Order: sequence, then structure tokens, then C-alpha cells
Amino acid sequence: MRIILLGAPGVGKGTQAKFICNRFAIPQISTGDMLRESVRDGSSLGRKVKKVMDQGALVTDDIIIDLVKDRIKKNDCEKGYLFDGFPRTIPQAEALAQENIQIDSVIEIKVEDDQIIARLAGRRVHQGSGRIYHITNNPPKRKNLDDVTGEPLIQRDDDKEGTIKQRLEVYRNQTEPLVNFYQKMHKEGVLSYRSIDGNKMYEKLSAEILNYLENL
Ligand code: AP5
Repeated sequence: MRIILLGAPGVGKGTQAKFICNRFAIPQISTGDMLRESVRDGSSLGRKVKKVMDQGALVTDDIIIDLVKDRIKKNDCEKGYLFDGFPRTIPQAEALAQENIQIDSVIEIKVEDDQIIARLAGRRVHQGSGRIYHITNNPPKRKNLDDVTGEPLIQRDDDKEGTIKQRLEVYRNQTEPLVNFYQKMHKEGVLSYRSIDGNKMYEKLSAEILNYLENL
């Protein structure tokens, strides 16, 4: 199964990706996580992209396309994968098509902007594992510590209110055109597209998504 999770920053893509990948035993390919890892490692890629990410802008298409092409060659991708945060522009989506990568399903999660701002401002993450918490919606058992390792949680550099607004604008201008792009492919019978209201609690939302995918 090859799945794309589409939606603005903070709608819950990373959170839902964990449920879906567990259920279908496929890897989560998050371009955001991959880029943050290179920033942490201090690699030349990391040094190149840090400023762009901190400003809430998009990393260039050629960097992202190369990153994804390399990642999907790995053995764990043989039975499929879930793209979280990719593609993010029409050229990225076209690059997938040019590589003859057949996507089974695109799931769009939709949430109002004021909700998104509250979700991102309260998000805390465990860097090592990518586990995602929220200070009120999904708090860790011990304040600011990861439930599994006990290590401190961090707040992402791009989760400041000014940067969140910039990321939302970038989403509207550069990523939202993918809604029409993939809806057209759905009408042509190339893949299935489902838009889901993300304004519900975690488990209810994941039950709806899993039910849809299991009945494809
Ligand atoms: P990326 O890491 O992909 O960030 P994003 O798309 O902005 O998405 P987020 O990770 O912020 O949100 P999410 O939807 O995963 O929400 P989450 O589940 O965490 O990208 C970061 C940057 O990298 C980009 O800005 C860009 O610079 C670069 N980049 C990445 N990919 C790129 C690409 N393809 N091309 C170019 N540049 C690229 O949830 C958010 C919060 O809400 C959490 O606290 C969570 O607990 C809470 N929450 C989740 N679900 C619910 C719920 N149902 N109810 C209540 N709270 C909830």
C-alpha cells in the first residue's frame, strides 16, 4: 500500500501516520523528520536547509526529490510506504509520476487555522523517536518527559506563532494546489482520494482513516 497524507501543518499527519504505519506494517516517510535529522547531524544538507525550515519556507524541490528517491530504494519500502509531508508542490508530485510510482490513496486531513495554531503552539516532541505530544490534548505522563525513555521533550524551532502563520500561508500557496491535482487523478480512476475532517479526537480520527483504508 502506498499512501500520501496531505494537509496543512499541524492537522495531525505525523500523529495519524503512526497509527496507519502500525496497522499496515509500512514505513513512515516524513521529509520533515528526515530534514530535521540532517540538521541535528550537522551534515552539509542540514546546514543548507536549517534557515529555510526555521523561516517556515519550503526546501527546494530537487533536494527533496533526491532525498525521497534514495529513501524508497531501501528494503523496508518493498511492501509500500506512507508519505507524510511529501509531495508538497506540483513539481514534487510530478516527479513521483515520472518515476512511475503508483500511489493507492491520498488522504487529506482538514482542520481550521485557529485549531492548527493551538495544536502547534502546544506540541512537544521526543527527538529520538519522533513521538508527538500536546501539552493539553495528549500530555506525557510526566511533565515534559518522553513516556518511553524519560528523556526531555522539545519544542520545534518552527512552532513559534509567527512561523506557524508563515507555514500556513506557504501551504495555501504551494501545497493546496495538490488537492485539485490528486482529485483529478481520483476522477480518472488512477488512485483513491478522501478528504477527512480532522476536528475530532485522535482515536476517532484514526478509526475513520483505518476503516477507509481497510475497505479500499
Ligand atoms: P514537516 O515536518 O512536514 O511539518 P508540517 O507539514 O508543517 O507538519 P507538522 O509536522 O508541523 O504537523 P502534523 O500535521 O504532522 O501534525 P502533528 O501530528 O505533529 O515540515 C517541516 C518543514 O520541513 C517545512 O516547513 C519545510 O521547511 C520542510 N519540508 C518538509 N517536507 C518538505 C517538502 N516535501 N518540500 C519542501 N520542504 C519540506 O500534530 C500537531 C499537534 O497537534 C501535536 O501536538 C498533536 O499531539 C496534536 N494533535 C494531533 N492530532 C490531534 C487531534 N486529533 N486532536 C487534538 N490534537 C491533535
